[in-house]
Amino acid sequence: MEINELLAEARKAREFAYAPYSHFPVGAALLTKSGRVFTGCNVENLSFGLTICAERAAIFGALAAGERNFVRIGIIADSKSPVTPCGACRQVLAEFSSEMEIVCSNLEGTLFHSTISELLPRAQEGI
Ligand code: THU
Repeated sequence: MEINELLAEARKAREFAYAPYSHFPVGAALLTKSGRVFTGCNVENLSFGLTICAERAAIFGALAAGERNFVRIGIIADSKSPVTPCGACRQVLAEFSSEMEIVCSNLEGTLFHSTISELLPRAQEGI
């Protein structure tokens, strides 16, 4: 699946975000090595710390469906420059695919390309 298609899936998932506190909906779409796509959106909570980001929603859905190998994740939000995953999400993504590509986009289509090893260097060092 091409990056643009993956981001289109992320854009659709963003519509389902539950973000009444931040008013910042985010969508994510994760491509597995087997070719499946799992989407996620952020889900906030009155107890703010319970909020789950779009990226973790996507990867937890994929894991629960038996997938553990990932090619890339597309993330989209309405921001001036593309939003990158938070530290917690980086750690969770790094757990499964050290070579995963990360493609971040804003609604205008400005892209930021990276990899999980670039965003979280030495995550698995020494294990
Ligand atoms: N958020 C995500 O879902 N993914 C990101 O990459 C950045 C932040 C969410 C968490 C919270 O619901 C809202 O965006 C504001 O931080």
